[in-house]
Amino acid sequence: MATPRSVVVLGAGPAGYVCAIRLAQLGQKVTVVEKTYLGGTCLNVGCIPSKALIAAGSLVDRIGHAAEMGITAKDVELDVRKLVAWKAGIVAKLTGGVGGLLRNHKVEVLMGAGRIVDRNTVAVQTKEGERTLKCDDIVIATGSVPIAIPGFAFDEKDVWSSTGALAPDRIPQHLVVIGGGYIGLELGMMYRKLGSQVTVLEATPGALPGQDRDCVKVIERSIKKLGMKLLVETFAQGYERKGSELHVRIKTKKGDEVVVCDQIASMVGRKPYSEGLGLDKLGLALDPKGFLAVDKQMRTRVPNVYAIGDIAGQPMLAHKGSKEGLVAAGVIAGLNEAYDVRCVPAVIFTAPEMASVGAQESELQARGIAYKSGSFPFAASGRAMSLMETEGFVKVLADAKTDEILGVHMVGPEVTELVAEAALAIEMGATAEDLSRTIHAHPTLPEALMEAAEAVHGMAVHIFQPKK
Ligand code: NAI
Repeated sequence: MATPRSVVVLGAGPAGYVCAIRLAQLGQKVTVVEKTYLGGTCLNVGCIPSKALIAAGSLVDRIGHAAEMGITAKDVELDVRKLVAWKAGIVAKLTGGVGGLLRNHKVEVLMGAGRIVDRNTVAVQTKEGERTLKCDDIVIATGSVPIAIPGFAFDEKDVWSSTGALAPDRIPQHLVVIGGGYIGLELGMMYRKLGSQVTVLEATPGALPGQDRDCVKVIERSIKKLGMKLLVETFAQGYERKGSELHVRIKTKKGDEVVVCDQIASMVGRKPYSEGLGLDKLGLALDPKGFLAVDKQMRTRVPNVYAIGDIAGQPMLAHKGSKEGLVAAGVIAGLNEAYDVRCVPAVIFTAPEMASVGAQESELQARGIAYKSGSFPFAASGRAMSLMETEGFVKVLADAKTDEILGVHMVGPEVTELVAEAALAIEMGATAEDLSRTIHAHPTLPEALMEAAEAVHGMAVHIFQPKK
């Protein structure tokens, strides 16, 4: 066996800790340097806590709608402190789990801010003082931070970032959310379900820019149905506190207005984070958006320095970072690995949920690729009816010549789970026919995916498709 390489991984989020564990599995000597918390944004102040609170919001909402099933619950009460403590318990379990895994794999964890001194040296500012680590390779996995817009500095009191929004001490009466993207809508809908009045300010002409527009239409309808306000082509300009009120100045197409609320949440995107890291010591420059360029083996322009996760480019999603972490670990251990994926699934925990993988129609049209499309509505799914969640549909896009599945976009119940099958189909080069010939258990939601694949050929059984 080759001599183990010593590797320093900077950052213990889902890119960094996964990379560190895989490196250890492959026999390398690993130190992970983490400034704040094991598990990074995802486990501590992102994916996991948000999904916990969203689940609570959905439960309250479902109880409110259960009368149709003959169930009425009186006096549903929310104890915010208990809810936040429950969420914190989940986070603690998971981050503790990551710590345990790293320990079991004999990965050294060093809490403190890491700084690159040269291509083989990292200095770490720990509580006990500075430590210098010598290594063969460096993996940069420092993630991203929320973007603040002028006039709305995050004080986590008047103006929440996603971090503040995930640790409330009360449910606001009127929450103004700046940004109608992933985070803005997930958390905006969650607060609506927990009882807030919610106004979302979005700069572009519609919610969730960049997502399949047919799916987004369903979400925009749901925003209305939930009694939320979505103001599009609207920019937040600044705010003033007047007693217990916050007066938010907005610029709309109709002119300037003021929205009065008691809480602001600013969620206008995230940017890669590499402050104070010492990239200049390596002669590495960031691109205009702050990302580090990497090749398919996750190498930066300095061959023994790798970058993975949010810092290495879009999409800034946990699972894409983890995959890159596995690739970098394999490459360092001498395996023939590359980040060579055909698709990265994306999931949005709105109500209903949205999920998507592969190309969108607009993209195929722009690239001049002829495609066929088949859709199946959840309104025709027995399982969706029994769940009382019939909003939405599954749409399959297949190459008009080869029938290969190019993209799948869906909105509706549990689609964040359903997307896994679609991702496998695309990764394996499956055709719409492959998907439609696969027996799907009845009664389940994935039948909608099978029927949408059948619909590509005008052959869905449970909807009427008139012959063209
Ligand atoms: P985003 O890019 O999804 O949405 C930001 C929104 O803010 C956009 O719609 C943009 O048009 C709008 N905006 C920008 N400036 C504005 C202004 N001045 N006034 C009004 N609107 C403005 O970013 P978001 O929601 O903060 O999420 C960041 C990233 O985190 C996402 O790109 C995603 O990669 C990741 N994420 C993933 C989730 C998941 O996988 N379920 C959930 C949440 C976030």
